[in-house]
Amino acid sequence: MTDRINELLSELTLEEKAGLLTGGSPWRTLNVDRLGLKSMVVSDGPHGVRLSEDIETMITQSLPATCFPVAAALAASWDKALLDEMGKALADEAIALGSDILLGPGMNIKRSPLCGRNFEYFSEDPVVAGEMAAALVNGMQSKGVGTSVKHFAVNNQETRRFTVDADVDERTLHEIYLEGFRIAIEQSDPWTIMCAYNSVNGDFCAENHYLLTEVLRNQWGYEGFVMSDWGAVHDRVEAVKAGLELEMPGPSPHRTQAVVDAVNAGDLDIAIVDEAVRRLLNIIFKAQETPKGNTSFDIEKHHALARKIAGECSVLLKNEGGLLPLSGDEQVAVIGSSAMNPVYQGGGSSHINSTKVDNSLDFMREQAEVQYAVGDGVVELSQGKIDEAVTLARAGDVAVMFIALPASVESEGYDRPHMKLTEQQIALIKAVASANAKTVVVLNNGSAVDMSDWIDDVQAVIEMWLPGQAGAGAAVDILYGKVNPSGKIAETFPLKLSDTPSFLSFPGSFDEVRYGEGIYVGYRGYEHMGRDVLFPFGFGLSYTTFEYSNLQVSTNEFGLDDTVTVTLDVTNTGDVAGKEVVQVYVRDLESRLPRPYKELKAFTKVALSAGETKQVTLDLSDHAFMYYDPAHHQWVAEAGEFEILIGSSSADIHLSACVTLTASSDLPSALHLHSTIGDWLADPKGAVAIAPILEQMGQMFGGGGDDNEALGMDMTAMFHDLPLPVILGWSGNTEHSPQDMVNGMLAQL
Ligand code: GLC
Repeated sequence: MTDRINELLSELTLEEKAGLLTGGSPWRTLNVDRLGLKSMVVSDGPHGVRLSEDIETMITQSLPATCFPVAAALAASWDKALLDEMGKALADEAIALGSDILLGPGMNIKRSPLCGRNFEYFSEDPVVAGEMAAALVNGMQSKGVGTSVKHFAVNNQETRRFTVDADVDERTLHEIYLEGFRIAIEQSDPWTIMCAYNSVNGDFCAENHYLLTEVLRNQWGYEGFVMSDWGAVHDRVEAVKAGLELEMPGPSPHRTQAVVDAVNAGDLDIAIVDEAVRRLLNIIFKAQETPKGNTSFDIEKHHALARKIAGECSVLLKNEGGLLPLSGDEQVAVIGSSAMNPVYQGGGSSHINSTKVDNSLDFMREQAEVQYAVGDGVVELSQGKIDEAVTLARAGDVAVMFIALPASVESEGYDRPHMKLTEQQIALIKAVASANAKTVVVLNNGSAVDMSDWIDDVQAVIEMWLPGQAGAGAAVDILYGKVNPSGKIAETFPLKLSDTPSFLSFPGSFDEVRYGEGIYVGYRGYEHMGRDVLFPFGFGLSYTTFEYSNLQVSTNEFGLDDTVTVTLDVTNTGDVAGKEVVQVYVRDLESRLPRPYKELKAFTKVALSAGETKQVTLDLSDHAFMYYDPAHHQWVAEAGEFEILIGSSSADIHLSACVTLTASSDLPSALHLHSTIGDWLADPKGAVAIAPILEQMGQMFGGGGDDNEALGMDMTAMFHDLPLPVILGWSGNTEHSPQDMVNGMLAQL
């Protein structure tokens, strides 16, 4: 393929090369008929194939395809094999319909539950986000359909998403907002990456050289190409220089001309254009290896798969007195508009023209004697609808409520104003629950909701997320125990919005959003603040119970580049088969930089029949023990003790073991002319170099805990944040300038 690319590059004119760097239409790359270069077709994504009926037009209806569960649901399955299977099914449909690249998965971190697009993203945790994205990408690409992992990067709100600047410190950027992308690229090598609309630390993502070249290429070695989100490019020439290969949508003659003019004027090196075209052609030819279009896919088979997946993603949040599963003998009052008109996907570019859509009421009627009342379906209060529902609830043995956040509240393009359900839904739940103690709430929503008004009134809650076109059937499978719920939430459900770490700064003001909570996002934040939550990250119930035992670690001491293998036994101690998600957290007992109490570093899902015990094995690379050090602009290992915590949720730790990392990363000194005394003391060689100076300072100013008489303070503590040149300037030594003295010391280091 390389020869063909080189040959093409030598034949393409500058105009043709520049033209290739912008779409040939809203949904395809440019074709160059003169040289027999066909275009490549792209389509959304991410949980279904949304291929425009007319790829020459920006917004049209899309061809019928299977709408699978959204990312928020998929993450709750914690099942990488399942996502690989879904990726393969998505690829089958993309091939059948004629799409070479599926624009997804979306994997931005859920910084606040309010983000309108959280349904399309996996988690508050980068390991879950990265590994689930990689599973989907591997599934799709294994069948010759490319992906576009998005939105790179720090796109965590819909408010002013085209213009807002995310102000995020380097450590937080890497540990939280880039880490998922790094994992996905490392584990699945997505054909393309989609850059986000927003800017990061002052530069729009489309023109952000740090993100697109220094990180993506130079640090991570990414070899695919970057396409823009639709309309994200502001300056095409700057974007090419920054590392953005394809502007979408196209066509855009003036953008093409700008590139041509820049090359001709010597403002843009043709070598950069050639490299961009090379990356693009590499993917176009890779896509062509799998012919697309004019075939079909098995609608029923994919619908059944969508139902299976939705079942795996369902999370049983509450089940007081073992009310669930229902037996089928109960008289059931089914309440809620989404029982008949399911809310099963989100609004915006991910909206699928579903091949078929199930509704729960039909399936409920197959299981039991059912009476139905709408009850909600409106936003403002309608007492009449509530009264109708209460009458039914009172007469039934059990009330099952299907409650969905309307798309007017949660969608691409806008954030939620609050975390609550609608006023009508809250009043309805409370009224029904007071009429029938056995009330079950089945939720359809894309991100955490505030349940404080009603959670204590109901006996059971099932979180179904936006479960795709077959989600209604899955919900009934869970209600009647045909499927044992095994999902776990991959985002914390806080007690109230003001408890969220980003509360004071989301969504920012005008075009500035400061990520002031830093690395303390999600469970990292709630645990750091010691704040209770409604349901903790990683939580989910089952119709059976599990026991954890026999934790073993492959070594108690390990060095850099070593892997620590963790094994443990999980037993199904109940009387029905089930699946359990085992979570491995790492806690750094002592570190130079502050760190979250613990962080998820590995997970696995295991299926167990009643009474069965299985051993699970998980590997922790040395990366699992590292943190990002902004002073060195890289991930670093710091020798010391760590605790490995095994949990069924972030709040339910069952086993633990201590291990010791025996070596630290070999780092060049980060000391510089303006480093403080504290910086010098933290650097092994630096501490030795300044010892005599501190000795002299001690004699001059006193210190070490005694109050200095003149200043009445602890001078050692005060010295800590003083730059070395400043304190040398106070020493009275005038033979050399403080700067020369420090530069001499640095040279010796
Ligand atoms: C949208 C979305 C992006 C989508 C693209 C094409 O604005 O941000 O996720 O893939 O445009 O529809």
